[in-house]
Amino acid sequence: MDDKISVFDVYSESRLQLERLTVADAQPGAGTDVVRGLHAQPKVLPARYFYDDRGSQLFEQICDLPEYYLTRTETAILKQCARAIAELTGPCEIVELGSGSSIKTRILLDAYSALDYPLRYLPIDVSAGILESSASDLLVAYPKLQVHGLVGTYELALRRLRSTGLPTRMVCFLGSTLGNLSPQECEVFFAQVAATLEPGEYFLLGVDLHKDEKQLEAAYNDNRGVTAEFNLNMLWHLNRCFDGDFEPSRFAHWAFYNEPLRRIEMHLRSLDSQTVRLRSLDLTVALQTDETIRTEISRKFELDAIGQDLRGRGLMPVEVWSDPNQWFGLLLCRLDHLR
Ligand code: TRP
Repeated sequence: MDDKISVFDVYSESRLQLERLTVADAQPGAGTDVVRGLHAQPKVLPARYFYDDRGSQLFEQICDLPEYYLTRTETAILKQCARAIAELTGPCEIVELGSGSSIKTRILLDAYSALDYPLRYLPIDVSAGILESSASDLLVAYPKLQVHGLVGTYELALRRLRSTGLPTRMVCFLGSTLGNLSPQECEVFFAQVAATLEPGEYFLLGVDLHKDEKQLEAAYNDNRGVTAEFNLNMLWHLNRCFDGDFEPSRFAHWAFYNEPLRRIEMHLRSLDSQTVRLRSLDLTVALQTDETIRTEISRKFELDAIGQDLRGRGLMPVEVWSDPNQWFGLLLCRLDHLR
């Protein structure tokens, strides 16, 4: 598959290199996931369409909301254990999937620089705007840091990763983004991570844990309506990508905890009966009043079960951390030698 990936160096300076990864046949293939999702019953849309530059900005705002305990809790855990992580891995290249603003990365970089380790950071994000601005900020804050950013999806980026000069690597997947994958996608993802790493290399995973339904639902239904705006922003993004005529004011945000499946579901609910066109996909979609399109799932985990899944893929948990309330978990895993 590698031959299908074309690489454009969009920016290169001695300490900062940014590459955009695209699949050569992306043009004709683009949007097949949208067509499939909107033909499905019930309708779904791929979550990656949240993250245009505006969506990434809104997501940063969500992370600061009082109701959204995830980011704060994970950050507090990282502050507690960053030094232990650095001591366990030794000098290492930090790879981050879905790096966004890279705020949490600073905690890790601080720990590695306190031990006087060389600093190499490889952020991967679908949003070029946020990748470039956060990488530039990091270079100012860390004069010895080298950044090599990849703009693209996790799948493309994982296939492109090569070992670098440092003795080891740590692939970080924070913010409970794992919960946004279905159990099947999660299996494939763990297999990809295991295939990318060399034995002895590390995987750092942050997961949100199962808890009280009220607290979970509040995190995805904030008072200020930022999450609603984030959800609706996907429709603007789709309009731009596929010459569409979604009218976001004719949809409402809806998020709830699906207890049997242990996941938050986020939907867009059609406020009336309407027809939407995505011209470049040659797609016409009819929606009934109150019909919903599911835009996201956010699964909630148990530490023991997720540890078992990882072990099954040869990703052995070396250390597991949580907060005093057990709201969030952080697992440092090492790829087994005996595979
Ligand atoms: N991984 C985050 C989560 O599941 C990301 C996320 C996806 C999100 N959709 C969201 C956060 C909607 C807030 C609102 O929580």
